[in-house]
Amino acid sequence: MAIIGAPIERKDGRAKVTGRAHYAAEAQVPGVVHAVLVQSTIGAGALLAVDIDAAKGMPGVLAILTPGNAPRLHGAGPEMPPGPALQDYAIAYNGQHVAVVVADTLERAQSAAQRVRPRYRTDEAIAEMSATLANAYRPRGIFGGDPDSRRGDPDAALAAAPVKIAATYTTPIEHHNPMEPHATVARWEGDRLTVWTSTQHVSGAQAMLAQLFGLPQSRVRVICPFVGGGFGCKGNTWPPTVLAAMAARAVGRPVKLVLDRRQMYTSNGYRPRTVQKLALGAERDGTLRALRHDGFSQMSLGDFGEFTEAVGLASEMLYAVPAVAVTHRLIGVNQALPTYMRAPGKSSGMFALESAMDELAAELGMDPLALRLKNYAEADPHSGRPFSSKKLRECYAAGADAFGWSRRAAPPGAMRDGEERIGLGMATAVYTANRSPAAATIRYNADGSVLVRSGTQDLGTGTYTIMAQVAADVLDVPVDRITVQIGDSEFPPAPGSGGSRTAPSVSNAVQQTAAVLRDRLLAMARQDWRLAENEPLRLSGGAVIGDGRRTSVAGLLARRNLDMLEATEEARPGAETRDFSLYAFGAHFAEVRVDPAIGRIRVTRYVGAFDAGRVLNARTARSQAIGGIIYGIGMAMFEKTEVDAPTARYVNSNLADYLVPVNADIPDISTIFVENDEHNTNPLGVKGLGELPMVGVAAAVANAVWHATGKRIRDLPIRVEDVLA
Ligand code: MOS
Repeated sequence: MAIIGAPIERKDGRAKVTGRAHYAAEAQVPGVVHAVLVQSTIGAGALLAVDIDAAKGMPGVLAILTPGNAPRLHGAGPEMPPGPALQDYAIAYNGQHVAVVVADTLERAQSAAQRVRPRYRTDEAIAEMSATLANAYRPRGIFGGDPDSRRGDPDAALAAAPVKIAATYTTPIEHHNPMEPHATVARWEGDRLTVWTSTQHVSGAQAMLAQLFGLPQSRVRVICPFVGGGFGCKGNTWPPTVLAAMAARAVGRPVKLVLDRRQMYTSNGYRPRTVQKLALGAERDGTLRALRHDGFSQMSLGDFGEFTEAVGLASEMLYAVPAVAVTHRLIGVNQALPTYMRAPGKSSGMFALESAMDELAAELGMDPLALRLKNYAEADPHSGRPFSSKKLRECYAAGADAFGWSRRAAPPGAMRDGEERIGLGMATAVYTANRSPAAATIRYNADGSVLVRSGTQDLGTGTYTIMAQVAADVLDVPVDRITVQIGDSEFPPAPGSGGSRTAPSVSNAVQQTAAVLRDRLLAMARQDWRLAENEPLRLSGGAVIGDGRRTSVAGLLARRNLDMLEATEEARPGAETRDFSLYAFGAHFAEVRVDPAIGRIRVTRYVGAFDAGRVLNARTARSQAIGGIIYGIGMAMFEKTEVDAPTARYVNSNLADYLVPVNADIPDISTIFVENDEHNTNPLGVKGLGELPMVGVAAAVANAVWHATGKRIRDLPIRVEDVLA
């Protein structure tokens, strides 16, 4: 059986379930002391002073850092962490860091933190996005591009279209809530800084810390062998990581700073609330003529950088529409800086677009899947380029077949089982197939074992495992003879694990590096056997074979007095980024059952079919897919961070009141990966799966709820009250 694609068990699985996997907060650092954050209790204003007199005399207290005594960081604007790091006195949100207390034990630090007395000038806080959207402003850019785009004349085309719909969709603030909170242990040895931290970007954290403390990168080491979930909130290097290092320097001892769950809501971003106006115009046969998608998302009034929830980017390219306008606007509120959260922009934006497509299908009296097929884009209508590959039609077909879409009775409320109303809904999934330069080192040891290293990180997705599989494939070594080491800035650099780019970036780096190593071993054999350069040889089972001969790798190395052979390579995206439009696709099919008497909604069946390019591991791929779908069901029916308007404070910043799905909320989920062996996207043909499976889920569920009840719910999450209303 081919190793690439096989459902190999996670290389790190045993260490995790037996507790041998040490996460950042568990770094074994002798002499470590503890830091606790003090956060503002007002939503807007300024810090007049921080009274630390009562706190600093408490037992075990080693230091209290405030904006009055904290060292200045080097950097400005985008070089600064995306949040407060005790550098100034302005207060832009409730929960902003105003002091850090360091003590010999966690309890003493917590106790002293409660005695720190900030004094404020309190201004009136703007807690929520204005309903009028009147204060909206244009972002500087989104992902380096223009926040607005237009092709054709969408307003004229909308006016002329015989069938049209226009609606406003809203999505709430959501928080990432990984199981593992943000945690950092920082240790200085002279002017060398070592940081154990939970991050989605080891090399990014290294670069940021070096910048802020005015050090060459070689003096900063970031270690992160395991991440207990990130979902985007560990993509940036947020202030707590920086403050831990600052505190460690101040007290001359290693410092541990772990956020509690409540602080996780104010310290590392969130998905911002959005208001999205969607308009579609079509011919009576369903042919789309016009699309307008005007997106508004909340931004922080603090001076922490800019983040836009890029809701309209899928609307630009998903369907073959001749006239399209997309705009993105921001509205400032007294809250922290938002950030990437799983499928940023796409999961929120596709809730709007794919709900609107369902509304249009209903208006046309057309099957929602047939409407998608009618407007299938054979090439990217936004860039004009061909897709590197697109098996969306196959996803629709395989998903519909597995789900039994053809049994869907058209009018809403028509499908019943006793008192229960059954609804079937579908939606499209799309996500950018991102890839960035990534490097790896591979060492082939004389004993036949192989060591693979890269400064990437595994968020729980299976990175360790797929790296071993790719190396095993090229070098023909059993997976259990391969050791993978990642999560250390001493290893060759890899990109941040955001935008679903780790598998495509790192797998290609491993493949390229392994191929170079293999070719060197083959060259050694040719040399030993005095064969021509083009003599075909191959590596198999720890030996080079060909020309009717066989020599072990151990022998090749021994003849050269080597105990190992090592290669380091960097793999970079190539011409495909110019020649093709790079996307992964999918189709979602959801069944809900609604009890009309009490408004209870249950997702009872679910099928997701995906074109994620080449699947590297069937087990971890399925895990990503069901995880994304569960995340999407959470978005559809549960997740919402509630703001108390007078204080601009979150009222449900804990895992009891912030709802996420539990096992009882989740049905059996079937996942299908349509075969795709193209190699246009990148040499291995991998498209990435971290985010794709969640895109469209909320719409599929909302569309199913409409089909069950006739109620079109355009504001997430969908609640009992919405069904009963
Ligand atoms: Mo992902 S939200 O790009 O970590």
